[in-house]
Amino acid sequence: MSAKITIKEVAKKAGVAAMTVSRVLNRSGYVSEDARSRVESAVAELGYVPNQLARGLRSKRTGTIALVVTDITNPFFTTMARGVEDAASDTSNLVLFCNTDENEAEEQRYMRLLIEKRVDGVLLVPAQAGQQSLELAKTHGVPVVVVDRAVSGQEVDVVRCDSRDGATRLADLLLIKGHQHFAVLAGHHGVSTTDDRVEAFVTAVKQSNPSNSIEVHYGDFSVRSGHENAKKILNAEPRPTAVFAANNFISIGALQEFRQQGISVPEDIALVGFDDLPAALVTFPFLTVVAQPAYEMGRRAVEQLFKRIENPEASPEEILLPTEIIVRASSGNGLK
Ligand code: RIB
Repeated sequence: MSAKITIKEVAKKAGVAAMTVSRVLNRSGYVSEDARSRVESAVAELGYVPNQLARGLRSKRTGTIALVVTDITNPFFTTMARGVEDAASDTSNLVLFCNTDENEAEEQRYMRLLIEKRVDGVLLVPAQAGQQSLELAKTHGVPVVVVDRAVSGQEVDVVRCDSRDGATRLADLLLIKGHQHFAVLAGHHGVSTTDDRVEAFVTAVKQSNPSNSIEVHYGDFSVRSGHENAKKILNAEPRPTAVFAANNFISIGALQEFRQQGISVPEDIALVGFDDLPAALVTFPFLTVVAQPAYEMGRRAVEQLFKRIENPEASPEEILLPTEIIVRASSGNGLK
């Protein structure tokens, strides 16, 4: 069993002070290129690995943050996670990934575990309101940045997209094409991304012409929910000619259901959705969507979390990232 290598042995081998080794390892303070090179060579040759627990006790940092998402199978969240991991690894931080399946009890269980693990901070996509998890973190002095969704009545940093603007742009696109009968296939009522998208879309449709018809079907952010609610609107009277699916999985479920029912998109029903799908997963991009910058959202959330860790007393910020509308075949050319 090789003896544990100490920082003093590294310093001796590199011919520098122990403080210089510490600066190189923590990427902090000035170090000449020559000294840095000698330290890195000595660390490699001796196989030195810092004692993270000991460092944590001194610096009160563990070099670990956490990302808590609601559906780790959703490419929106895996793309966001990539942005998080890239930004964290740029500063030698580790990321713990937690998945809550939109369940508040699971979210609170994870928040308690992360507090026990002394993570330096948490990036939280709240399952619903997120209040209890945020209160728990605040009680224990653990910095949190809320991502993707808004939370009411909480003094907390938020990094998200402007769902209202995106949904309004999709409604305007369909209204210009002459549609007057609409349906919205939505996620969980009470989640801010659901309520923002529904409210903005319905408002745009009704403000364009109060006699326009619109029906909203709530469900969850799943392919199954897209199927179930797409089935319902096919029996509606008047049948909608344009449908807004409020996230990528709902869009996929609706498209599959329409095709199973022999309904042609966009000839029989125009379909628009929120969230683009990664180009690598889609052979023939077909859906008109509002795309969220998921990767950039992840990176910005990490930057905001590190700012919060360094300056816990600063006023909370809300960073609203722009969305991009991508028009493809599914929204059609308008009514004949
Ligand atoms: O597909 C993921 C997106 O839809 C996220 O914005 C999430 O909040 C859900 O609304």
